[in-house]
Amino acid sequence: MSFIVAIDGPAGSGKGSVTKLIAEKLNLHCIDTGAMYRCVALDMMNKGIKIDELEKINELLKNIDIVLDEENEKVFLNGQDVSKEIRSVEVTKIVSQVSAIKEVRLKLVEMQRKIAKDKDIIMEGRDITTVVFPNANVKIYLDADVEERARRRQKQNEEKNIKSTYEQVLEDMKKRDENDKNKEFGALKIAEDAIIFDSTGRTAEQSAKKLIKIIKEKKKQEELDKKVYEETKETAIKKIKLKIVKSVLYYVFYKIVYRIKVVNKEKVPKEGAYIICANHINMLDALAVVSSNKRLVRFICKESMFKKKILGWALKLANTIPINREKNDIESMKRTLKALKNGELVGIFPEGTRKGMEKNMKAKNGAAFFSLKTGTKVIPLGIQGSFKPFSKVKLVYGDPIDFSEYYGKEKDKEALEKVTDIIMDNIVMLTNKGK
Ligand code: DC
Repeated sequence: MSFIVAIDGPAGSGKGSVTKLIAEKLNLHCIDTGAMYRCVALDMMNKGIKIDELEKINELLKNIDIVLDEENEKVFLNGQDVSKEIRSVEVTKIVSQVSAIKEVRLKLVEMQRKIAKDKDIIMEGRDITTVVFPNANVKIYLDADVEERARRRQKQNEEKNIKSTYEQVLEDMKKRDENDKNKEFGALKIAEDAIIFDSTGRTAEQSAKKLIKIIKEKKKQEELDKKVYEETKETAIKKIKLKIVKSVLYYVFYKIVYRIKVVNKEKVPKEGAYIICANHINMLDALAVVSSNKRLVRFICKESMFKKKILGWALKLANTIPINREKNDIESMKRTLKALKNGELVGIFPEGTRKGMEKNMKAKNGAAFFSLKTGTKVIPLGIQGSFKPFSKVKLVYGDPIDFSEYYGKEKDKEALEKVTDIIMDNIVMLTNKGK
């Protein structure tokens, strides 16, 4: 399976140079689709074909041969090196109109998909995230102020000995923005799930560095996701392993060493999405909940826990969702939302840290956020005991709490805090510390 990074953005946003840097660093094939539209425009110019001569354009498209020679950074049109000509002011002037012709777009989109087949690629243009590869693994919308974009383009022109003035470039750029955004076919749009990145005030290297980090993270997450959702031999073996490990953990480790007892097990429904919210007293409590449940509970756990040898292995086996609390971990959030939409059980410690309540720390709003955003009921769970070997550990489930009066209010801080308070009050009651 190929890995596709799609980048869209207006002219001069830095797509070209940023894309090249990313491609080099991540070993991806780099495809500049703007160069392809420029080739069509140049071919039309050379053959004296006007914008409205559709028949002639169709004929031209039938025979056109465009080769993007990545290694030598050259563009060939019908066997000729046109790397310089396609950047001329004349081509730049008409290319936006040319790229608005439906037949041109259909032909080039088809060519672009073909070029990318079975390769790991990064492709930049205007409609890559929305039309060419709407299912790309990573979608980026690269933007920058129009003045800065014009300055960059003028600098490029000077370097390439292309005659132009800043004012002229700025004027052209504004016109091209208008055309690119408003054309009927292949208009520049921001894909709903694109990462919007503003390159204003950043060098190409700085932008590339940040984006590489985002892409790497995404790749890592996708590999983890594959291990969860795809029905492969590997996931089938993992399921069997998990079943065995859960039984051993429960009947040998937790039953004998911690004399675990589960009260009100039946409060966890046999199917459907629920968020189990528990107090957090020991690093062994998540696995106590996981191993004692028939269904898989996917806890959200600190990334650092995964680094511990045996614990980390078991957490991975249980498809635990890692979270990096040092940053706004969007990927972790997306995976949790995906799990809930998929009808899974998610486990959260609202205290965020072990014995947060004892340390008088404020509970986190994460569980409330997920409940309100996805309309999921919360099952409170009180964990009692000290996790000292051979002392008793008790897991006490409460009734699922329905927060429907707050659903959709996940951005309202007051609603989030109220819901968090209710969750925490229920947990406290179940830990016997409520009285
Ligand atoms: O990125 P560029 O300036 O080289 O692009 C040249 C023109 O082609 C520009 O006006 C937008 C258009 N284009 C497009 O419509 N769709 C793409 N995927 C790439 C470029």
